[in-house]
Amino acid sequence: MTTTTLLDVRGVTMRFGGLTAVNQVDLTVGQGEIIGLIGPNGAGKTTFFNCLTGLYVPTEGTVSYRGTILPPKPHLVTRAGIARTFQNIRLFANMTVLENVLVGRHTRTREGLLSAVLRGPGYRRAEAESREKAMELLEFTGLAAKADHLSRNLPYGEQRKLEIARALASDPGLLLLDEPTAGMNPQETRAAEELVFAIRDRGISVLVIEHDMRFIFNLCDRTAVLVQGQKIVEGDRETVQSDERVITAYLGAPFDGTGSTASEAEK
Ligand SMILES: Nc1ncnc2c1ncn2[C@@H]1O[C@H](COP(=O)(O)OP(=O)(O)OP(=O)(O)O)[C@@H](O)[C@H]1O
Ligand SMILES: [Mg+2]
Repeated sequence: MTTTTLLDVRGVTMRFGGLTAVNQVDLTVGQGEIIGLIGPNGAGKTTFFNCLTGLYVPTEGTVSYRGTILPPKPHLVTRAGIARTFQNIRLFANMTVLENVLVGRHTRTREGLLSAVLRGPGYRRAEAESREKAMELLEFTGLAAKADHLSRNLPYGEQRKLEIARALASDPGLLLLDEPTAGMNPQETRAAEELVFAIRDRGISVLVIEHDMRFIFNLCDRTAVLVQGQKIVEGDRETVQSDERVITAYLGAPFDGTGSTASEAEK
């Protein structure tokens, strides 16, 4: 079976002064795939995401999406079809849950500023559609009953779900999740697994960073391991778990499926 390649990362390197945080990383994500990215703290996982989404301009390498090299500008990356969540939750704390999703929708509405100021029929139609779409995403993520709550009043696990709803509002073809279950209890984590499968079933590919090995190996078609900025191995569960370099990198921490190998839920 051949899958269409959505994301094609070639030789991405990110240096900060003398530190090479990401070193010559290649990675592909195909249509309909869920791909995992794991590695010890400080391995360069978030930096790699920042290189994919235009927050950082890679020192070397290219990031292509659907066959086109992406310019390193976050709004252009979003418009091309890549959305993300953040390891440190970035919601508008004093806006409602619904409003936060509407912000995510913004990149997809064609109505410009003038139209918004004049509040003409085009604007009203676009706004009604955006609200409908935002409410649908809140239903999908299980947050509809909290649409009018301020996001800062949501429990932590629900804030993570809201970040996902907001990312989905830009109609991505690829969703990047940076530690989506950090701070969640086991029950919320299982629900998050189901949510990721449901996202994939909508035709959205997923690239996910996690420390929770059970979560990763339950979900992912392939998993890549970053250690000190380098991708040392990539493959299925057996390939990754039996790799000596991976075991050494995690200082012998066993991949026994009991969950997190790292205790840093909050960063
Ligand atoms: N803007 C920056 N300037 C300088 N160094 C940075 C910057 N961003 C990240 N780094 C460094 O790059 C390395 C990789 O950090 P990164 O946050 O990508 O790791 P990570 O794999 O996401 O770790 P964690 O699992 O703890 O989230 C670290 O040594 C970090 O200090
Ligand atoms: Mg990180």
